[in-house]
Amino acid sequence: MTNTAGSPVKTVTVLGTGVLGSQIAYATAYAGFDVTAYDIDDAALEAAKSRFEGLVRTYEAEVEGAAGGKAAEGLERISYSSDLAQAVADADLVIEAVPESLEIKRETWQKVGAAAPERTIFATNSSTLLPSDFKDATGRPDRFLALHFANRVWVQNTAEVMGTADTDPSVYATVVQFARDIHMVPIEVKKEQPGYVLNSLLVPFLNAGAALWVNGVADVETIDKTWRIATGAPMGPFQIYDVIGMVTPYNIAKASDDPVQQKFAEILKRDFIDQGKLGVASGEGFYSYQG
Ligand SMILES: NC(=O)c1ccc[n+]([C@@H]2O[C@H](COP(=O)([O-])OP(=O)(O)OC[C@H]3O[C@@H](n4cnc5c(N)ncnc54)[C@H](O)[C@@H]3O)[C@@H](O)[C@H]2O)c1
Repeated sequence: MTNTAGSPVKTVTVLGTGVLGSQIAYATAYAGFDVTAYDIDDAALEAAKSRFEGLVRTYEAEVEGAAGGKAAEGLERISYSSDLAQAVADADLVIEAVPESLEIKRETWQKVGAAAPERTIFATNSSTLLPSDFKDATGRPDRFLALHFANRVWVQNTAEVMGTADTDPSVYATVVQFARDIHMVPIEVKKEQPGYVLNSLLVPFLNAGAALWVNGVADVETIDKTWRIATGAPMGPFQIYDVIGMVTPYNIAKASDDPVQQKFAEILKRDFIDQGKLGVASGEGFYSYQG
């Protein structure tokens, strides 16, 4: 268990218990912190409980030292609430992972800002919005920053820490240490950057792979093989698409005004999403994962 004695962060509230919120809440509890998981209603909290139980099994199978009771103990440090003001009333740190909508984020932070104690530090896990886009809604921009996790936090354990010009450097340092305390590798992003470090690298790379394929330059296997052999990387772009799943890349490609991306969106919808081929999670995507 993490020794958190020197840290001002002891109690953590996670807002939103979907794909990422559940992983963040569980990773935090697993590391020894008391966690309150907030979601909008009892049905969402029930769904959260099964996500957490799934995470216990995943940790037991994939995280060294988690089997034999440690993973299940993490679950006992999580409490549940669908009352936002009550959920943040004793939080040292609030991490927000509600849907990626400016309106929902603003509304959520206004309520949290009004209800949380003065000492509370606020962090958003937003992927595409900048913390500056809604820092004013928090009512305390000096105690607010982005703490951005990657999906499958127990193995893909980067935590990008990105403040705004208003973020107090001591708040930033506390969050960097917190990231370490929950077994993440903190990535210190020195200025606001859409896509942080990871997606600033990954998105153009994936787009380039898609364009080579859509334009008929090379097939999927050849593109992936080239990248793997020539760079030593374990996966090419289409293997990564399969891990991400098709829906997010489809939404991004569809929103682009680049005709190549539009064509890619069309193919993803017709030949993959509509056929139930969602990537690794469904057993088939660009590659087959049956058995
Ligand atoms: N999925 C990813 O791979 C990933 C990776 C990094 C960051 N993120 C970011 O994390 C955030 C959440 O993404 P997700 O994929 O976990 O989404 P999700 O849809 O799986 O989960 C969202 C959760 O928020 C809850 N919710 C809905 N409306 C709400 C409201 N008004 N107030 C509070 N909670 C509400 C939902 O019940 C759900 O449990 C987004 O900002 C996203 O950009 C996602």
